[in-house]
Amino acid sequence: MALPNPVKIPTFVQILRWFVSPLSLLEECTKNYGDIFTLSVSPQLTPVVIVSNPVALQQILTGDSSGNFSAPGYKNSTFGSIFGPSSLISISSTEHQRQRQLLTPAFHGDRMRSYAGTIRDITEGVMGTLETDKSFSTRDITQAISLRTIVKLVFGFYEGESAKQMENLLNEMLNNISSPGGAAMLYLRFLQRDWGSWSPWNKHIKLQQEIDNLLYSEIKQRRKQADTSKSDILSLMMSARDEAGESMSDQELRDELLTLLIAGQETTATALAWALYWIHKLPAVREKLLAEIDSLYENSSDNSDINAINKLPYLNAVCCETLRIYPVAMQTFIRRVEKPLQISGYDLQPGTLLYGSVYLTHQRQDLYPEPKQFRPERFLEKQFSPYEFLPFGGGVRRCIGAAFALFEMKVVLVKILSTYSLNLVDNIEVQPKRRGLVTAPASPINMVITGRRNSSNINSLSQDSLSARS
Ligand code: HEM
Repeated sequence: MALPNPVKIPTFVQILRWFVSPLSLLEECTKNYGDIFTLSVSPQLTPVVIVSNPVALQQILTGDSSGNFSAPGYKNSTFGSIFGPSSLISISSTEHQRQRQLLTPAFHGDRMRSYAGTIRDITEGVMGTLETDKSFSTRDITQAISLRTIVKLVFGFYEGESAKQMENLLNEMLNNISSPGGAAMLYLRFLQRDWGSWSPWNKHIKLQQEIDNLLYSEIKQRRKQADTSKSDILSLMMSARDEAGESMSDQELRDELLTLLIAGQETTATALAWALYWIHKLPAVREKLLAEIDSLYENSSDNSDINAINKLPYLNAVCCETLRIYPVAMQTFIRRVEKPLQISGYDLQPGTLLYGSVYLTHQRQDLYPEPKQFRPERFLEKQFSPYEFLPFGGGVRRCIGAAFALFEMKVVLVKILSTYSLNLVDNIEVQPKRRGLVTAPASPINMVITGRRNSSNINSLSQDSLSARS
């Protein structure tokens, strides 16, 4: 079957570069072949068409309803080997739709806004451990914040022995799969073999078992002591029933919990670390943002509503530009052609696999002039379509935590920036690189607290909004 612009690089070299330096591979290919080309880098190492044309992306991501495309969960085996066969990421069609309907409310609307106080408290707790003038790793801090936040959302607690153990184990697991070798282990089935205690797969399996023990023991305890007043995500899932009146099995609960715990923290932690980098790298951005945040607290009509933070235009633009320039997820999950059709003038046959390239779309000169420049104003000057700006993918598999992730970024940034004065330790250009299944800063972003800003108004804002919602 003829595929659009097969890339003329030996398959072995394609695979190697996909793990070691995927962004430079993508940029080279788009320079040579345009916004549609074919690489042999799908999880099964079969050819996959990489698309970064907004018109084609719209066709692909909205193509489920017409039956032209599907978003098959079984093709996400890279993630399936971590999350399991019942994860939202691994399931498809009606089962997938039903599970999304159950989980979506936990990440939207009033429910989402009610987490603001918790996010603020967690941020305060984590930042409170830092000493003035002592360098810290930005990623460690943002990782701790987003991990505690997702643990709290999922289980309803973030203190105590189990939470601490969970935090350590998840961190270890993420570090184990974050090297190019770790990512290769998840992609390439033949590396998923236990070659003894030194092998990454052996370590992965052991960590997975320990995490499973914790998850299953929490599930068992909840089954024994059902508490209908709890509103955390685990309680929500445990009380759900399908049409036949069946509840979710332990295995289904475990897979979904692990999915949310991992997908919900690594991504947001990285985005937050990038945001802090850009804000402190570019003094003009920092000044403009601080002026906007400070004006929020001067305007008394706004300061009792957390919605005000969510609507700050420049803060929103800074978050969007952060997610544009180096998107955490390079591409969408795989989509599959179901009927013969044309994309960008090429005939595609059923069975063809495609990735929507988030990175290449966000680097298009015609959409984002000088794409390597961090310029939040782009998002104030122009409204981008969901197929021009797609950090969270699109269509039936669009990130379920998208609204929540953006909200969390804003609450954390407002809390940190309004309470502390920070500086970058090194004035270097930090580039992106692969970190496991996502992209992240290639070198550490070290910062220092140089002093405190006046935070009395900020505390009253969060307290007011918290009590207004509870
Ligand atoms: C900045 C943060 C985040 C980014 C950039 C991000 C990005 C993405 C992307 C690109 C997809 C694939 C969408 C597609 O194929 O069209 C996705 C899916 C997903 N994300 Fe996120 N995500 C983030 C945060 C979160 C959070 C906070 C959660 C959960 C609490 C989460 C849970 C998920 C899940 C469960 C899926 C699979 C959805 C499905 O298969 O139906 N993500 N995310």
